[in-house]
Amino acid sequence: MKMPVRSGSLPFQVAFLLLLALSSAVNINGQGSNGICDDKPSLEPRPHSVSISEFGAVGDGKTLNTLAFQNAIFYLKSFADKGGAQLYVPPGRWLTGSFNLTSHLTLFLEKGAVILGSQDPSHWEVVEPLPSYGRGIELPGGRYQSLINGYRLRDVVITGDNGTIDGQGSIWWDWFNSHSLNYSRPHLVEIVNSQTVVVSNLTFLNAPAYNIHPVYCSNVLVQNISVTAPPDSPHTVGVVPDSSDNVCIEESIINIGYDAIALKSGWDEYGIAYGRPTRDVHIRNVLLRSSSGSCIAFGSEMSGGISNVQVDRVHLYNSFSGIEFRTTKGRGGYIEEIIISHVEMENIDTAFAAIGHSWSHPDDHYDPTALPILEQITVQNVVGKNITVAGNFSGIQESPFTSICLFNISLSLNPGSLTSWVCSNVSGTSETVFPEPCPELKSSSSSTCFSLPNSYGRAAVL
Ligand SMILES: *[C@@H]1O[C@H](CO)[C@@H](O)[C@H](O)[C@H]1NC(C)=O
Ligand SMILES: *[C@@H]1O[C@H](CO)[C@@H](O)[C@H](O)[C@H]1NC(C)=O
Ligand SMILES: *[C@@H]1O[C@H](CO)[C@@H](O)[C@H](O)[C@H]1NC(C)=O
Ligand SMILES: *[C@@H]1O[C@H](CO)[C@@H](O)[C@H](O)[C@H]1NC(C)=O
Ligand SMILES: *[C@@H]1O[C@H](CO)[C@@H](O)[C@H](O)[C@H]1NC(C)=O
Ligand SMILES: *[C@@H]1O[C@H](CO)[C@@H](O)[C@H](O)[C@H]1NC(C)=O
Ligand SMILES: *[C@@H]1O[C@H](CO)[C@@H](O)[C@H](O)[C@H]1NC(C)=O
Ligand SMILES: *[C@@H]1O[C@H](CO)[C@@H](O)[C@H](O)[C@H]1NC(C)=O
Ligand SMILES: *[C@@H]1O[C@H](CO)[C@@H](O)[C@H](O)[C@H]1NC(C)=O
Repeated sequence: MKMPVRSGSLPFQVAFLLLLALSSAVNINGQGSNGICDDKPSLEPRPHSVSISEFGAVGDGKTLNTLAFQNAIFYLKSFADKGGAQLYVPPGRWLTGSFNLTSHLTLFLEKGAVILGSQDPSHWEVVEPLPSYGRGIELPGGRYQSLINGYRLRDVVITGDNGTIDGQGSIWWDWFNSHSLNYSRPHLVEIVNSQTVVVSNLTFLNAPAYNIHPVYCSNVLVQNISVTAPPDSPHTVGVVPDSSDNVCIEESIINIGYDAIALKSGWDEYGIAYGRPTRDVHIRNVLLRSSSGSCIAFGSEMSGGISNVQVDRVHLYNSFSGIEFRTTKGRGGYIEEIIISHVEMENIDTAFAAIGHSWSHPDDHYDPTALPILEQITVQNVVGKNITVAGNFSGIQESPFTSICLFNISLSLNPGSLTSWVCSNVSGTSETVFPEPCPELKSSSSSTCFSLPNSYGRAAVL
């Protein structure tokens, strides 16, 4: 199939991303920029392509096209061993309930193509909870399947020429707020137990809950997407790498109700038993806004562990929290080997937080003696304007947060700021940090600070 080549103006967002891409040519401390994002899969064009309209789909925004998507993908399964195939979605408004992808498939949304999530819950199948959560995240029991799903796949690409996936989530937000949901809300894209997953060149709107949720996946690339949901949409989240490794998120813009990017790995006894960490993650060149949550969050579900995460060149604005680490007693697991550098932030209530209490449990069977570990977190080269709280580090008495290293950070606080740093049960070191941190973060030894090993990215086999 021949795709029209686009030419056109450069809107603000693209100009911003170009700027980020240019600035990333500068080396960090002479170490170069080796990371997961430098090792990406090469996308071969698929030898076969069919259009969703060949399967009886109607793009009028009213006709339900679930069967057309399911039939098209069933047909395209037969091309899996022939180099794979593309499902082409032409301009139009394609209403659908949830459907499953297949391996070696590219779902391509043309410019002007909009996949619309149905607002009728009976068009969303109810599926089992994820084993690392043991129940739906919002309600005990099952959960609605996501709009676009993948199970045990290889080589799946969801892309386009800035086509749109619109979850029409307002009805789900109302049910969530009025406590009338029967199952936990669905996400837009969920890919489970899969390898080599690409989501790129698309716009995501109004997700019922999460936008992009790779779970138990390896080699995931999220690139050049835009994600938007209203500031008051309850607990909407952008991209959620969950018990997944070798993940790159880059050149994207996320403006969301709760967390923009949240790294997770399972919930209490279920996550501990499943035992699959999120590791080897690289986030760079992103513009993030989170109204009520955090631009970048680690946890609170982190029972399988989170390690080796590199965040660089991020711009965070108009948000409640900039970067937040969350855990609680009973979680087990760890958050460690995290390096965050070149952060610009403005109009943020709390720039950095690490909170070791007050997150909820799936049920009463969690083990309160399963103490999480939070250590080896390095934050450097940060400039912030109009910040209310510079850092809120509230660790766990029985398992204090350690090796928190802060270098070259300059935050200007707004006149309403009463406390710049809050610290308890935490230790670490700092150098050239303004405003001056609490004594707990001023130990003289920086020997245990996490820094990038030269072989960073060795595990990237994308
Ligand atoms: C999609 O896959 C899930 C998990 O394998 C399965 O439960 C569901 O029935 C599938 N749906 C369809 C329409 O094939
Ligand atoms: C990003 O996506 C837009 C369309 O959404 C496209 O025009 C642009 O070329 C893409 N940029 C990159 C770097 O892939
Ligand atoms: C992509 O599409 C969205 C929604 O239609 C639009 O707001 C945005 O400007 C487009 N971006 C680009 C780079 O064309
Ligand atoms: C929940 O279930 C009840 C009883 O079956 C039903 O009346 C109600 O519409 C359902 N709510 C939603 C949001 O699906
Ligand atoms: C995104 O779109 C641009 C412009 O069409 C293309 O060059 C690039 O390969 C696409 N990226 C991905 C990862 O699909
Ligand atoms: C400072 O940030 C707050 C949000 O945290 C915002 O309401 C306020 O308008 C900002 N002030 C200035 C001067 O930009
Ligand atoms: C401190 O951080 C700023 C902002 O990222 C950067 O421009 C500057 O080069 C850094 N200074 C050192 C000594 O690394
Ligand atoms: C620090 O975080 C804790 C837990 O979220 C919160 O209760 C407290 O109010 C925060 N302190 C400040 C000064 O923001
Ligand atoms: C550690 O945290 C506990 C609450 O979990 C608090 O009571 C205690 O005062 C803290 N210890 C220090 C030294 O701040």
